[in-house]
This record gives sequence, C-alpha cells and structure tokens, in this order.
Amino acid sequence: MKPTIAPYPLTRFRRARQSDAIRGLVRENALTTDDLIWPVFVRDGEGIEEPVPSMPGVVRRSVDLIAKAAVEAHAMGIPAICIFPYTDPSLKTEDCAEAWNPDNLSNRAIRAIKSSAPDIAVMTDVALDPYNINGHDGYVVDGEIVNDQTVEALVKMTLAQAEAGADIIGPSDMMDGRIGAMRRALEAAGHHNVMILSYAAKYASAFYGPFRDAVGASGALTGDKKTYQMDPANSNEALRLIERDLTEGADMVMIKPGMPYLDICRRVKDTFGAPTYAYQVSGEYAMIQAAAQNGWIDGEKVMLESLLAFKRAGCDGILTYFAPQVARILQG
Ligand code: PBG
Repeated sequence: MKPTIAPYPLTRFRRARQSDAIRGLVRENALTTDDLIWPVFVRDGEGIEEPVPSMPGVVRRSVDLIAKAAVEAHAMGIPAICIFPYTDPSLKTEDCAEAWNPDNLSNRAIRAIKSSAPDIAVMTDVALDPYNINGHDGYVVDGEIVNDQTVEALVKMTLAQAEAGADIIGPSDMMDGRIGAMRRALEAAGHHNVMILSYAAKYASAFYGPFRDAVGASGALTGDKKTYQMDPANSNEALRLIERDLTEGADMVMIKPGMPYLDICRRVKDTFGAPTYAYQVSGEYAMIQAAAQNGWIDGEKVMLESLLAFKRAGCDGILTYFAPQVARILQG
C-alpha cells in the first residue's frame, strides 16, 4: 500500500532492524562465555549429585563430581568457577574454626579442581556463615556482629584458600576493613597473584533465600543481616564502598543481587571503570526457572535476555547459575 500523505520520516530506526545481518552490524553489546562465573555447591561424600529443591536444575556435588564439572565447564569455555560449601551442621561452631581448616570441604574442592582442570580460575567465598552456629557472616558477641574479630578470622580463611590454590578470593561478608587486611596478609604470605573480587556492594536482600537452602544456612540464621549488608534504598553508599574496596586492594568489584540493581552496576562502571561483576543470585534464578517450568515464559530466552542486561549495564561478567546452559547455547 503506497502512502499518499507526506511528510515521510527521514530517520527510520527500523532500517537498522530489517534483517539479522543489519541487526548484527549495529548491535552494541554481546554476551560471551568469557563473561561467565559459575557458582557451584559442594558437599561431602563421593559420587553424589543431589538437587537443591528451591533451585530447579542446580545440584550439590561431592568433591569428585565438582572436579568433573569443572573439567566440563573449562571445555565449554567458562573461565571461572566459584565454590560454595554445604557444611555438615556438626561442623558449625561458635569460633567457626572449620572456616580455615586446610582440609575443609571448600579447600578440598579447590585442590581437586586445580588438579583436574588447572586452567579454570577458582573463586572462593569468604564469610563465616557456612561455619557459624547462628548462620551469620561474622562473629556474634552479645547479640552484635563484631567487625574486627571477624576480619581476623576472615584473613585466616583467605590464607587457607590461597594455600589450597584459589585464584580469586571473594569476600562476601561486608565487614569493614577486610579487603585491606586480606590484601596485606596475602602479600606477606607471598600470594601476590591471588586476586580479590570484593562483594563490595552487597545488599541485605530477600533474593538470597534459595541459596541459604542450598548451603544449609536457612535454619541456622538468627535475625537478619541488615547491620552489615546494604540497605536496598541506597545508591551513593555503593559508590563509597566500591571506592574504599578498590583503595584497599580489591582487583575486581561486585554488585549483588543483579537484576534489581542494574542502576548500581551502571553507576559503578561509569564512576570507576574497574572490572565490575554482578551476581545474578539464587532468587533471580529461581524466579526464572519457576515461571519457565509453568510455561509462563520462555526460560531460555529470558535467561539470555537477563544476562545481556548486565552487559548493557556495564558489567564485565556475571556470576550465574545458568553458566553451563548459556555456554552450551553460545557454543552452538
Ligand atoms: C554468604 C553468601 C550469600 C550468597 C553468597 N554468599 C548469602 C547471604 O549473604 O546470606 C548469596 C548467593 C545467592 O543467593 O545466590 N556470605
């Protein structure tokens, strides 16, 4: 049908959307396997893979199967894997000594991965919650989460992980001063190449629920984490935290959760230009999987769209439970 009335639009944005070829030419952002950090859950035993009910598609693996999964992840081009231990309740104590046991689950998993897939980067989690009788990331003294004593414990934990072969230390505890303390201790111990990816802007979020099930911390947690994790209402505070952690020696910084905090990702990247990561957390994963299982959304498309959003927001990479699925798709 030939339109009869002028004026015609001179600028037609639709020209640039007319075909796959043209859309590819003008595309501004892309998701690649290089962007992926895969969080995995490790448990005791051998030959065990058990599902995490609140995270459909996610399993807890024994150390031998974690090592096998790391080999597969590396073959798919995933550059890094991040280990979270499901610690037996009998090992949770008030002093959290299991956290720096050189042979704890997490450290055994690091060694197993490093010997079977030496070229995948291994990231760890530094916080006391898997080992703490009350589920908190720090020591609780008279009802208060005490900062400085916690940092001392976190430093011991960091060194044990570095000794085991970790490439990237991931402090998720949100205590003040921990990055500087860890960096100094790592340098003093000769681990000058061990990186720190600081969970710098970590919010007190309800999106962590399924994760706490996965690591067996839900039942243990007394109260909430609001005295150390950030208020979801704040944005400027995130910038100040990132600046502080970079100054103290963090190599990379993280915003967590991911999708509800894309504004923070963009501000952080624009302000500092540092390697910036987002954690698409357990609750975000669970929401997508639940809707997909019900046939309410196309799970695969939503997954890819959600991850591309992080790239558009300025992130250099994403911690996501979808990592293997994405890598498989991107590989073709
Ligand atoms: C614990 C930790 C948490 C997550 C990563 N490390 C939970 C918490 O702070 O309670 C959450 C990850 C997720 O929800 O996927 N320090």
